[in-house]
Amino acid sequence: MKILGIESSCDETGASVVKDGELILSNIVASSLKEHQQYGGIIPEIASRRQLECIHTVTAAALQNAKTKLNGIDAIAVTESPGLIGSLLVGLSFARSLSFALNIPLIEVNHIEAHLYAPFLNDAKSKNRAKPGLPAVGLVVSGGHTSLYYIKNFRNIALIGQTRDDAAGETFDKVARILGLGYPGGPAIDKVARQCKKSKLRFTCAPLVDTLDFSFSGIKTSVLYHVNGTKQRSHAATAETAYAFQKSVVEVLVKKCVAAAKKHKTKTVLLGGGVAANSFLRERLFTEAQRQGLKIHFPPLPLCLDNAAMIAGLGFQLFKRKVKKN
Ligand code: KG4
Ligand code: ZN
Repeated sequence: MKILGIESSCDETGASVVKDGELILSNIVASSLKEHQQYGGIIPEIASRRQLECIHTVTAAALQNAKTKLNGIDAIAVTESPGLIGSLLVGLSFARSLSFALNIPLIEVNHIEAHLYAPFLNDAKSKNRAKPGLPAVGLVVSGGHTSLYYIKNFRNIALIGQTRDDAAGETFDKVARILGLGYPGGPAIDKVARQCKKSKLRFTCAPLVDTLDFSFSGIKTSVLYHVNGTKQRSHAATAETAYAFQKSVVEVLVKKCVAAAKKHKTKTVLLGGGVAANSFLRERLFTEAQRQGLKIHFPPLPLCLDNAAMIAGLGFQLFKRKVKKN
């Protein structure tokens, strides 16, 4: 079964064809990120206007790369929420119209839950990659969300922890702004932090005990005070601050993943969202997983970020249960 996925929750416009919920036949992503950079964050009006302009072209390219025509598509899956309202409307209206015109089912998919489906996807090159087992705990770390889930199966996903204030990606973006590293901040901090190998500098995330919730707004303020209290900023000082900040955020994420797996008696941990691309987080989780006897499944880097393949993949799983048409 071939599902066309459509994703338009933030600044990306994605279209993808996925076979049987697993094999990516095509995955096209257009982004208006460059246009937002001068503002230091996403401007919703710019995002939705660009999506309106390119959604046809992106979908046509996804069909072409998959060597499929519209009449070869069995169903359409689309991001229903959460996201920027204008952006979501572009994808939803497009997908609903297409499903009506083609008289094929429409499956509406939650964007955050779809991030957790990314480790289950393969393309022709990665066919032999180990598939995650279920049940699992899943951590979604993106620009807008930091949430932990217990996934019994893909029709039964329970939220077990979340941030009480800023999301992890949002904190990376805000700290990068304080350090003058530009937007988006995550990749910039990841890169500059690699230039520091060790430091006595410490920032701490609020220690929320006996809960799987997170809090990141305090660490951002600590970094701000530290930077404002330092007279001269050198490149080495920026690298050291980025390193200490990243280390603290990553330690909290790792700790809560391990605690969630223990609490819910599962050996599998799934990762998703833009911050899952962070090299230090990947490294630390792999090491900790080995120590704790856990299996960690990260998506390949391009599938950490917003994409339509994860929407089509989860859409397939939901289709097997019930179908919402037009
Ligand atoms: O999942 P995503 O593409 O969009 C949302 O749904 O939010 O995630 C974007 C977020 C941004 O905050 C960005 O700074 C962060 O992911 N990010 C990273 C890295 N790459 C992207 N954060 C830390 N390290 C990275 N390498
Ligand atoms: Zn996302």
